[in-house]
Parts: sequence; structure tokens; C-alpha cells
Amino acid sequence: MQLPRQVEATIRARAESGKTLNCYIYDAQPMRNKIAALSGMMPAGVEIFYAMKANPHTAFLQAAYESGVEGIEIASLGEAKKAVEAGFSADRLIYTGPGKSPEELQWCVQHGIRTVHIESLTEAHRLQKICHEHGKSQDVLLRINADFDIHEAQTTFSGGSKKFGVDEEKLDEVLPQILALEHLNFRGLHVYAASGVLNVDDLLKNCELVFKLTQKIESNYANVICDIIDFGGGFGVDYLEEGRDFNPQAWADGLKSMIAEYGFEGRHFVLELGRYLAADSGFFCTEILDIKESRGKKQVICAGGINHFRRPAALGINHPMSIVWMDQPRVYSHQEKVRCEKVYFGGPLCTGADKLANDIYIKAADIGDIAVFGLAGAYGLSMSNQEFLSHARPDEIVLESD
Ligand SMILES: Cc1ncc(COP(=O)(O)O)c(C=O)c1O
Repeated sequence: MQLPRQVEATIRARAESGKTLNCYIYDAQPMRNKIAALSGMMPAGVEIFYAMKANPHTAFLQAAYESGVEGIEIASLGEAKKAVEAGFSADRLIYTGPGKSPEELQWCVQHGIRTVHIESLTEAHRLQKICHEHGKSQDVLLRINADFDIHEAQTTFSGGSKKFGVDEEKLDEVLPQILALEHLNFRGLHVYAASGVLNVDDLLKNCELVFKLTQKIESNYANVICDIIDFGGGFGVDYLEEGRDFNPQAWADGLKSMIAEYGFEGRHFVLELGRYLAADSGFFCTEILDIKESRGKKQVICAGGINHFRRPAALGINHPMSIVWMDQPRVYSHQEKVRCEKVYFGGPLCTGADKLANDIYIKAADIGDIAVFGLAGAYGLSMSNQEFLSHARPDEIVLESD
């Protein structure tokens, strides 16, 4: 991985303090560039929301705000509050995810968020009751667990038995009940197939499926219009550096043709993007504290492990990496080193699951060097096991834009 000059300079400057280095370095400029590029290529009606679960740090929320996203996709009250603190008014928040508590729904109704995405009948009735108590109504989308999945994706959210949404085949049982709840304004559908998808056609198939469901609903239910259609997130990034970057222009062109084909002009099409916007705006940088040889393979032990960067272990993949050579004095004369070999990187936690990378080819690394993991801006610290072993939280350093 080619390390940006400013990231390396920041690592070297931090190392001068003599403290063990373990931090995230964020540069929100790539995220800004991506939002600007996407905004320019999307067909009319597409609204881009930032799925802040990818990275809730203020720098990312600020970048999303300044780059003019339509709003924020939240999945908890904590996220709602952070988004509001970053400047987003409540009516720019959309709320997805199973298991929304009564307190969370109450906050949404009181503050007037844009849409609540209903995941079950229980949730619909809970929301109806809260709206009734407050004398308010709430715009809602119905989340569908489509009978469709994308096998190649890193994580699937539809197909088979899922905790997300309502099974597609139960639509005719559930929708009339939701339509009968007078405090809920049904505005449309949410169908999110999968995260980390690189194949544009697979994601477009999901759009087509939602369009077909929309047509079916509108022909079966008089006076029901799905004027908001939410495709969720899912644009992938090329973690394995296979030259398979997601092609958003092809997706935008495909959607544009589909909108024309179905005569869906004038509707709102929601994209809730996390990974694609945030991934290349973050680097996890951690000092190599030890190198050992164990039965034919070098074990490289870093200051931070899955407590700070869990994604590679959780997904079973190696992120792009780079070593910043620090030329540190030896701890003892015969200490191990890595030279042109495939090695294992782990953290300091007492579990075999504490893996940062495996079988990864490294030209040279010594104790005291800094291992840098790229594409760590999305689902990095926020998805990690921070409390395990009570190590200090890594610093999060934000680079100033040039
Ligand atoms: C409901 C919902 N929307 C959006 C996203 C963001 O997905 P991605 O990071 O793949 O764009 C997620 C991720 O889990 C999600 O659960």
C-alpha cells in the first residue's frame, strides 16, 4: 500500500514523543471527494445519507455535513445525538435497525426525525402508541427482508431467516396492519441486500427487486404510493487490492435507466452509504512491540489488536498494509526481524482471535516499526472490542486538509 506522505509524516512526528504509538489517523478529504463525485453522477431524486455506523467520529460527520449529504442514517439514540451535535437537524435523520427501544422511538417522535424504518409489527405498534401519546404522526418506511441475497458480499442483510425487516412473503399480512395505524404515514420501502458489494449488477438487481415490489404494492393497494425507496448501503471497497473498485457511475447509469423503464421519475431514492464513503479516510497505525519465530512462522505482536481494529479478524481478510521503518535501537542483540516473508500480525490480547493479518508478505519489519493498516476509516474503532483487557483507547488524529 502506498502510504500518503502526510500520514507517514504524522506517524514520525508522533513517534518523537517516545510513547508507544497506537492510533488512528483520519484524513476526511477522500470522503469529501467521494460525496462530491457521487452527488454529480446520481440521477435526479437520489439522496445520499451517510451511514454513521461506519465511523461516528466528528471529523466524518463534519465532512458529510460540509459536503452536502442529504442527512444521516442512524441506528441508535447515541448516533442521533452525535449527528445533531455535528449540525444535522433532526429532520435530516433516518432511523434503521432492529430493536429500537421505546426511549429511542420517543426521542424520534419528539424531535421529528425524517423517517423511521419499521423492522417489525411490534415496532410499528410501539411507534403508533408513542405517536398517539404525543399527539403526533411519523413518516415510516417498511423494511423488507427480500427473498434474495448476494452470495459474494461480505455481509448479507436479506435472504433466508434474518433479524432485519419483514419477510417479503409476509408483506400482504403486515402492510395492511401498518396502513391501519393512523399515526404512521407509510412512505415506502427499505430493502438493503448486502454490505461490501463490488459487483454493480448485483446491487442493481436489489434495486430492481424493490421496484417490482413497489409496483406490486401500488397495484394491490388503492391510494398507496411508495414515494421513498431506500436501497440501504452496500457499495464495496477493494480491501484485497484486486483492482476491483466499485463503479458508482455504472450503478448510477443502471439506476437511471431503471427509473425511466418503471416510470418512477419524481420519487425519492435513498442511499445510506457507510463503507464506500469512509474507508479510505482512515489508517490504523500500531507499533510493533515484539517479533517471535514460532514453528516456522514469524509472529509480529503490535500494541493494538482486535480491541482497536477488529475488522480483519471479524471478516477473515487482510487489509492493505504498509510498514513505516523507524530504525529503533535493538532491545537485545539477537532479536528477531522480518525479511521478505509471509507472517502473522496480532495484538496484545490473550485470545487466539486477536489477529490483524495473516500470511501477509512483508519486505522488512523490525521491533519499533509502525504497522499501518489502510482502508480502516470504516468499521474500524467503532466495531472493535475496546473494553477487552482495558488497554488505553487509541488516539484518533485528524489531519488538516491541504
Ligand atoms: C441499515 C443499514 N444501512 C446502511 C448501512 C451501511 O452499509 P455500507 O457500509 O455497506 O454502505 C448498514 C450497514 O450495516 C446498515 O445496516
